[in-house]
Amino acid sequence: MAILDILIWPDPRLLEVSQPVTEIDDDLRQLASDMLETMYDADGVGLAAPQVGIRKRMVIVDIHAGADERPSGEKPLVLINPEFTHKEGALSWEEGCLSVPGELGEVTRSAKVTMKYMDLEGQEHVVEADGLKAVALQHECDHLDGKLFVDYLSRLKRNVIRRRMNKLRAERAAGA
Ligand code: NI
Repeated sequence: MAILDILIWPDPRLLEVSQPVTEIDDDLRQLASDMLETMYDADGVGLAAPQVGIRKRMVIVDIHAGADERPSGEKPLVLINPEFTHKEGALSWEEGCLSVPGELGEVTRSAKVTMKYMDLEGQEHVVEADGLKAVALQHECDHLDGKLFVDYLSRLKRNVIRRRMNKLRAERAAGA
């Protein structure tokens, strides 16, 4: 297990479209395991492979990360080649992103979603979600198409955040 570096927006690698996974192998299982460790370490509830520089259509979501109690049977989701099959309603949520640390912004998305995906054993599944889980699935899958929550904000707010992130990236580059 390893904690991976999370790319900071507007790193150009975050803006690319990720490729479908064609083979589920040990490398992919290792990546999923490392992504989970990285997400828990950063106190996030979701992470997409492109955020750690891997342009593959895989995301993880665990809305109970950091919670004291986890509903029985609820495990972190590892979703390979996820695709929405249904969306309905509208829900606004104050979102953040591990690639945009310290920033929040209100985004309106679908309130209920249904999606199909493959797990690490290659089994197909369907998941239905509402509330935070629906928000997290939509947020993470956006990453696979090079889209971040800041893209939903006003240009003014996005530019303010971009300046702060560029400063943070410069500091990290200087410290590394
Ligand atoms: Ni994100």
